[in-house]
Amino acid sequence: MKRLKIRSSEIVVSAVNKDQYPIEGLPEIAFVGRSNVGKSSSINSLLNRRQFARVSQTPGKTRTINFYIINKEFFFVDLPGYGYAKVSKEEKSQWGKIMERYLKDRKELCSIFLLVDIRHEPTNEDKAMYDWVKYFGYDCVILATKADKISRGNYQKHFNMIKKKLELKDEKIIPISSLKKTGFEQLWEEIIMIYNQHGYEITVD
Ligand code: GTP
Ligand code: MG
Repeated sequence: MKRLKIRSSEIVVSAVNKDQYPIEGLPEIAFVGRSNVGKSSSINSLLNRRQFARVSQTPGKTRTINFYIINKEFFFVDLPGYGYAKVSKEEKSQWGKIMERYLKDRKELCSIFLLVDIRHEPTNEDKAMYDWVKYFGYDCVILATKADKISRGNYQKHFNMIKKKLELKDEKIIPISSLKKTGFEQLWEEIIMIYNQHGYEITVD
């Protein structure tokens, strides 16, 4: 089983505008999903770090794109969450602009991980997000988060619910739990495969 050795991980920039994005030309994978779904926690679990990507106290308040560089070879990008009820119209439109600016022709972006809570049917906003990702032409992997909240025997039933609501084509669904630290070996394999498929060599150890 491949589990990448983390030699270094650091935040490079918390960006709003395009001119703040990293210009190294290294490949990246972006994490997107509802506020509170577990984006930052998943990044922390992948990197074996606690409190690295900030786990939010105030959901819906992250309004920046956080670029994390790993082993000086690739990036993880933590995108601002959506779907938080107590957000003004103004903030929602701000969110849309930040997202669109990033998603529109970001050559370094190899794949988008769309996170959904394994317990619940994805929301209309999740569906819209998935359609948006496809519209911009990116590959997508579904991460079913908080998998510790249901029993393994129920995974398939919940995958089917997610697949149906999002109208997935052949996208993979990977169950993960940041609490129990499960699913991350499979996820690392997927990450390495994605970068390799895009022509990037990733040093595993
Ligand atoms: P925003 O930054 O607001 O968009 O949220 P986020 O998607 O980054 O979520 P975050 O990682 O901050 O986690 C939100 C809450 O869910 C925290 O209280 C976490 O402790 C909890 N959480 C995250 N992952 C898991 C998990 O695998 N299992 C369980 N039970 N709780 C989790
Ligand atoms: Mg977060």
